[in-house]
Amino acid sequence: MSNVQVIDVNTSNLYDFAHCFLQNHKHPGYIAKTAWLKKRLHEGLRYKLLVRDEGKWIGFIEYAPAARTWRAVKAKGYMVIHCIWTYPKSIQHKGYGKMLLDTCIKDAQAKGMNGVAVVTRTSLKGTFTAKRDLFIKTGFKLADSSPPDHELLAMKFEKDVPLPKFPEDFTERLEKYKKGLTIIWSNQCPYIGKSLGEIFETVKKKGIKHKAIELKTAREAQAAPTPYAVFSIIYDGKVVADHMVSNTRFKNILKEISL
Ligand SMILES: CC(C)(COP(=O)(O)OP(=O)(O)OC[C@H]1O[C@@H](n2cnc3c(N)ncnc32)[C@H](O)[C@@H]1OP(=O)(O)O)[C@@H](O)C(=O)NCCC(=O)NCCS
Repeated sequence: MSNVQVIDVNTSNLYDFAHCFLQNHKHPGYIAKTAWLKKRLHEGLRYKLLVRDEGKWIGFIEYAPAARTWRAVKAKGYMVIHCIWTYPKSIQHKGYGKMLLDTCIKDAQAKGMNGVAVVTRTSLKGTFTAKRDLFIKTGFKLADSSPPDHELLAMKFEKDVPLPKFPEDFTERLEKYKKGLTIIWSNQCPYIGKSLGEIFETVKKKGIKHKAIELKTAREAQAAPTPYAVFSIIYDGKVVADHMVSNTRFKNILKEISL
């Protein structure tokens, strides 16, 4: 393992780095994510980069205390991991992911929190989610699950603290969207923006009436109708996408729901 350091991104050095591996500072996703981060860093969100001694960034982790998380979880007292990513693939399986995870765990311990939680999935295909294995190996346990395959994993620091849970009312939450097509999104993930622009073009071209809801606060994200929270597509009260999708996949979804 070559020399690497974890850099704490803050509002002063925010523009010095790539975010989520987007290097082009003019990329709409970079601009949106940086503006999003700037607000969230003030709220207690932590965003840490793993940088090799030659200045190359090879990973990052983003997490926030439950009260400020952008995932739909009930995790009072827990630190909630939004994203963890090491890249390129050639540097994976060398302990860098664990290094980032340990940074988050230590931070949560230092803050006297109950533990650390993360939303993951058993079927990762196309979901842009970290595999559960690294968390399980580190001592996380399955705390809750939600259809179709969401898992809430948690590491508790004290025996007696309650485990985090998914909200029990996702079905009731969907009631709000029981008519027509609704697209729920936020700038928490910079890759959402690109697909979203294309998706909005598609609905416009096809003349499909829809509702677009941007989640603008952590509280709104926590009240979202899906665990991942920051991107979903709902049609007549049913979730037809619970993670970011490409425009091509979106067009296929439209066919599947006969729109
Ligand atoms: C999940 C992820 C962060 C793990 O990163 P990583 O750098 O490979 O993590 P580590 O090297 O610490 O651990 C990975 C595995 O390698 C093993 N490992 C660690 N050091 C090793 C070494 N020196 N030799 C061999 N194996 C090693 C670990 O035991 C671990 O095994 P496991 O997968 O069975 O748990 C990475 O796979 C990833 O970025 N995935 C994509 C996640 C994603 O899509 N994120 C986008 C959302 S923002």
